[in-house]
Amino acid sequence: MKNPSDFLQFSLDLAKEAGQIQMSYFGNISSIKKKSTNIDLLTNADTESENLIISKIKKTYPSHSIISEESKQINKGSEYTWIIDPLDGTTNFVHNLPIFAVSIGLVKNMSQAISGVVYNPAVDKCFYAEHQKGAYLNGEIITPSNTNSLSDSLIATGFPYLHDKKYDLSFKIFKDFYDNTHGIRRLGAAALDLCFVAMGRFDGFYEYSLNSWDICAGSLIADEAGCKVSDWDGKRLPHNGDRILCSNEKIYNDMVSILTKDEYKIFF
Ligand code: IPD
Ligand code: CA
Ligand code: CA
Repeated sequence: MKNPSDFLQFSLDLAKEAGQIQMSYFGNISSIKKKSTNIDLLTNADTESENLIISKIKKTYPSHSIISEESKQINKGSEYTWIIDPLDGTTNFVHNLPIFAVSIGLVKNMSQAISGVVYNPAVDKCFYAEHQKGAYLNGEIITPSNTNSLSDSLIATGFPYLHDKKYDLSFKIFKDFYDNTHGIRRLGAAALDLCFVAMGRFDGFYEYSLNSWDICAGSLIADEAGCKVSDWDGKRLPHNGDRILCSNEKIYNDMVSILTKDEYKIFF
């Protein structure tokens, strides 16, 4: 991108710095806590990454609001809201799997994401986008795959920490896609799943019960790359991450057809 806005440049610098904090703990974690369930983990890398990000936003943009996974929302009544996942893929991080990222999104009037950065520090891959300016990976423009049919596709998904009725039924959806594609991957970092669809590594991605911080930056990056990004039924993407579907244009309708089957109504 030739002229990144001040917001994007700030986000890029911040994501790199947060990534350095993550890498300083990678393979060397001194504290693992549990959050909503026994498998919902929090490390000191999550906390320190978040402390850095929040303090720099407060210093540079003191009038802006902030939503960040591990902290109470800071509502300043501003038109600008930063939506942050300080470490997406904590379970991978804890198990020394280098598939994790920092995700920094900026939304205007709580309706339109205007800038987004997803940085995977373990392999120094930085995905970013601004509204109506395309999507990039380490300076190169990215576009989704050209895969024409669902049967030739590789899909990604993920699962929430809460194991309830929806969770049980989600394995039927998983099987549905597994039976109708080349396969499904569950990588464990939703922000990166979205970026991998944006760059054509995956053909599609769906998940439910995510949160705004999981999808804010990644969904802008996918949208700007040229993906279709929406609710499971094709309606506008719920910004709270309740359901998300993202794919190349060619397999999108077939993914909607599976996700809107009557037997999956419980999700809506
Ligand atoms: C998780 C990851 C995972 C998804 C979970 C998320 P976290 O985020 O994005 O891929 O399946 O639902 O909560 O907890 O590692 O930030
Ligand atoms: Ca996350
Ligand atoms: Ca997180």
